Amino acid sequence: MAVPLVAIILAAGESTRMNSKKPKVLLPVAGQPMIDYALQNVRALAPSKIFVVVGAKSEEVSTHVKDKATPIFQKKRLGTGHAVQQVLPFLKKFKGNVLILYADACLVRPQTVLALRQFHLLQNAAATLLTARVESPFGYGRIIRGEGGEVIKIVEENQATEGEKKINEINAGVYFFRASVLAQSLKTLRLANGKKEFYLTDTIPQVLSQGERVHALMVPDRTEVLGINNRHQLTQAHRLWNLRRIEDHLLNGVTFHDLKSVEVDGKVVIGRDTVIEANVHLSGETVIGEDCRVESGSVIRSSKLGRGVVVRSSRIMDSQLGDGCDAGPFAHIRGGSVLDKNVHVGTNTELKNAKIASGSKVGHFSYVGDAKLGKDVNVGAGCVFANYDGRNKHETLVGDKAFLGSNSTLVAPVKIGAKAVVGAGAVVTKDVPAGTTVVGVPAKPVKKRK
Ligand code: UD1
Ligand code: CA
Repeated sequence: MAVPLVAIILAAGESTRMNSKKPKVLLPVAGQPMIDYALQNVRALAPSKIFVVVGAKSEEVSTHVKDKATPIFQKKRLGTGHAVQQVLPFLKKFKGNVLILYADACLVRPQTVLALRQFHLLQNAAATLLTARVESPFGYGRIIRGEGGEVIKIVEENQATEGEKKINEINAGVYFFRASVLAQSLKTLRLANGKKEFYLTDTIPQVLSQGERVHALMVPDRTEVLGINNRHQLTQAHRLWNLRRIEDHLLNGVTFHDLKSVEVDGKVVIGRDTVIEANVHLSGETVIGEDCRVESGSVIRSSKLGRGVVVRSSRIMDSQLGDGCDAGPFAHIRGGSVLDKNVHVGTNTELKNAKIASGSKVGHFSYVGDAKLGKDVNVGAGCVFANYDGRNKHETLVGDKAFLGSNSTLVAPVKIGAKAVVGAGAVVTKDVPAGTTVVGVPAKPVKKRK
């Protein structure tokens, strides 16, 4: 039978070094709050219970995690050992393993936590921790091993001797403990050597003194162990997550012109042979089809693009573009816009809640808001859909093959019939029947189209 598991995420630290108004663990890293990575790692192991230790000003953190975990309040921030002690009363009857991880170690992969559990179970260890060999161990707990290579203790930066500071195997902050051993070790934690905090890392000698074994697994990818304590590390974590995602997309057949300046959030899907140029930001649940080209400077959030779509230095938010559409340069396609196939949106054009049927063109510096356009409509340069009367928004309907002249204004609510023509500079305040041409201010019919 599987050994029961509970998980504890430590998230009560103060964000002093971040100098943020927000709790550190809610700061976003590559599109999601830092703590969500820890939650995902923990959930991959399906523990029977997840506790999150939150600090004094962390109602926000409690609210954020409450659907997924039980927040436990740590009144005073007295260290990682003290933080875990706050959960002990809830584990009195629990017999199994306890996974502990730090919310600020957001680069650890779920596979690594799974491997650590497997190792812990195989070794039948009382405690197993994750370590890594890093280039610069400054600030991390150093792993002190005995002559036989066994872990003896972890020494924190402020307690380390000059010799110990040179050790570059560090503690990643991910542990499995047998619950009974953890409880016993935490009971005897002491503040010694001028320490102001109870360190969880000091439980290691306590575990050994109970005649139990401590094992360590070294993770080969050292980027996984980065702890996020300052804004510099926050940026590093952000870049590392982006690079990991981009590498996955490269394997899936996507071309990237520049790995450093592109940002791709976790839920983004990109089709094969699509090209993503430099300085592109793809976020939310964006789906991009095959053979698209997203040119430099484009920002696409929570949008769906079909096949062969070209986006030139444009911004697309919560919208859909069908196969063969193209947008920009400098188009702004805002929430609720749905473009059917082969719609052309040109330079400096803004769309908002615009439903546009296939083959229509909005070529140059126009605003189309709250509108439905039929097929093969031509919207002339500088045409404005005046959807707002100062109080309310109104809709404009444009029939198939209508032709809207340059610099015309459609004052909503208004309907333009199929094949109607609006002359350049006209201000349309009344519905225009199908096939009718209107001109002037206010626009009036001139003749019926034959
Ligand atoms: C900790 C480890 C160090 C390890 C490093 C890995 C200890 C004593 N040191 O150092 O060995 O190399 O992480 O990144 O554990 N927290 C609380 N309550 C507290 C104190 C901290 O919940 O009273 C939480 C923080 O929110 C954070 C985590 O515990 O998520 C780690 O605390 P932090 O102060 O960042 O420890 P480090 O100095 O980075
Ligand atoms: Ca840390």
